[in-house]
Amino acid sequence: MLLVAVIFVMVLLEPSHGFARRRIKFKRCHREVRMPKALFMTCANKHGVCELRKGETHILRAVFIPNHNATNVDSHVRWNSWLEIPLPNQERDACNNAIKCPVIKNHITRFTYNLHIEDFWPRKVYPVIWTLSDKDTDEELLCFKFQINIK
Ligand SMILES: *[C@@H]1O[C@H](CO)[C@@H](O)[C@H](O)[C@H]1NC(C)=O
Repeated sequence: MLLVAVIFVMVLLEPSHGFARRRIKFKRCHREVRMPKALFMTCANKHGVCELRKGETHILRAVFIPNHNATNVDSHVRWNSWLEIPLPNQERDACNNAIKCPVIKNHITRFTYNLHIEDFWPRKVYPVIWTLSDKDTDEELLCFKFQINIK
């Protein structure tokens, strides 16, 4: 009985659950392409580069104002090293839950993505680059760069 109670308390205190959402820093990609008005992520730490835990899902939210309409939106996130390496198992179709489609020019738009951190990722700080683009015209709607720290 005591053991059950101890396990229950340990589960409640498990630090990997219920990460707090906070604002994170990012950089613009190109002058011509929109960047977020604000970027948020659920991180395991309170300050600095956002720490993500293996086996966990972290939620990223970008709030932005698109500069054109789009019916089909592609989401693409990759590790921004000398060679761009796409993150594994990502959902490329932003219209499937992450964003409200169609995206309408000059409307405040929220992109909310569940980023699952696979267990096989080596622990380190990764610069990443994320783009949303119009699948029909290939025009970029949003682009931003930031860092994540896989722990
Ligand atoms: C964008 O979509 C809105 C809402 O559907 C529409 O009113 C507007 O005319 C469209 N703009 C362009 C440039 O297609």
